[in-house]
Amino acid sequence: MSGTKEEERKGSSQWRDFFWNPRTHELMGRTATSWGLILLFYLVFYLFLAGMFALTMYVMLLTLDDYNPTWQDRLTTPGMMIRPKGDQLEITFSVSDTESWDGFVQNLNNFLSPYNDSYQVQTNDDCPPDQYFIQEDSGTVRNIPKRSCQFNRTVLQECSGISDPSYGYSSGQPCILIKLNRVIGMLPGKDGQSPYVTCGAKKEDSAKMGPVKYFPPNGTFNLMYYPYYGKKAQVNYTQPLVAVKFMNASLNSDISVECNINSNTLAEGSERDKFAGRVSFKLRINDK
Ligand SMILES: *[C@@H]1O[C@H](CO)[C@@H](O)[C@H](O)[C@H]1NC(C)=O
Ligand SMILES: *[C@@H]1O[C@H](CO)[C@@H](O)[C@H](O)[C@H]1NC(C)=O
Ligand SMILES: *[C@@H]1O[C@H](CO)[C@@H](O)[C@H](O)[C@H]1NC(C)=O
Ligand SMILES: *[C@@H]1O[C@H](CO)[C@@H](O)[C@H](O)[C@H]1NC(C)=O
Ligand SMILES: *[C@@H]1O[C@H](CO)[C@@H](O)[C@H](O)[C@H]1NC(C)=O
Repeated sequence: MSGTKEEERKGSSQWRDFFWNPRTHELMGRTATSWGLILLFYLVFYLFLAGMFALTMYVMLLTLDDYNPTWQDRLTTPGMMIRPKGDQLEITFSVSDTESWDGFVQNLNNFLSPYNDSYQVQTNDDCPPDQYFIQEDSGTVRNIPKRSCQFNRTVLQECSGISDPSYGYSSGQPCILIKLNRVIGMLPGKDGQSPYVTCGAKKEDSAKMGPVKYFPPNGTFNLMYYPYYGKKAQVNYTQPLVAVKFMNASLNSDISVECNINSNTLAEGSERDKFAGRVSFKLRINDK
């Protein structure tokens, strides 16, 4: 009994000695100098880590540029989009039911408002066509703000909403606008050849699609609208458009239309990326 008590006392005094040994002045088995050195080591170590982190961040921020993205996906071929655009890529309406296409017309009116000739003349330049509008920075001197080229609404002719305010929807010959997604620095054609859009129907629908008209003629995105320098550098940039007018599409049937970009510099959209250089949508015109 007493033996165990003795042992207990001994054990606890050993433990106390370990915690603070008054004879050797050791705290948890180390002298003050030893503790001091350890603390100093960790202090220096963590300061070093913090310094490394700060330096790396600083260098990273130095390489960032307000006007050019440092990292840009290597998108060889940009995607395309249509207007009017609803929840789905689907243009379904009845010729005789004004309400069924009124939304499309409103959508196009809003979208084309900044393309008004009067507005384009105020904000953008009348550039020489069929050549790039190059505005590079010279060395470290930024050439900003950069100008942009006019894309007049009247270029879309029958699809401009000016001569025909219903964009052909009231006569069953609807217009669809196509745009190519913006990619900074993209050069979409060489040898003065602008890229152009062609639309076709998928397999069994080809007879149903009928002939189409393109505006501007040949469905080109003129080279003068490229390269694009980014929203911040080119504040008034107006994206070029191609309008496709379906002249005699079959009524009361679903038509799967696919439009492609044809360019001598952009790679053909691969099977892997269904959205590169093409856009597909469903067209259905009902007669009542
Ligand atoms: C563009 O013209 C249409 C009519 O042609 C007009 O309703 C619209 O307000 C104009 N937009 C601008 C931005 O001037
Ligand atoms: C953008 O358009 C405004 C007029 O709306 C014009 O005053 C300004 O100079 C234009 N800026 C550039 C860079 O073209
Ligand atoms: C746009 O329209 C204006 C006025 O109608 C005209 O002066 C200008 O040359 C046109 N620009 C282009 C690129 O067609
Ligand atoms: C359209 O393409 C044809 C043949 O490729 C060409 O002869 C014609 O000049 C083009 N039209 C325009 C307005 O670019
Ligand atoms: C329109 O297409 C129909 C067949 O879908 C055809 O019978 C008709 O002749 C075409 N009209 C014109 C003007 O091409």
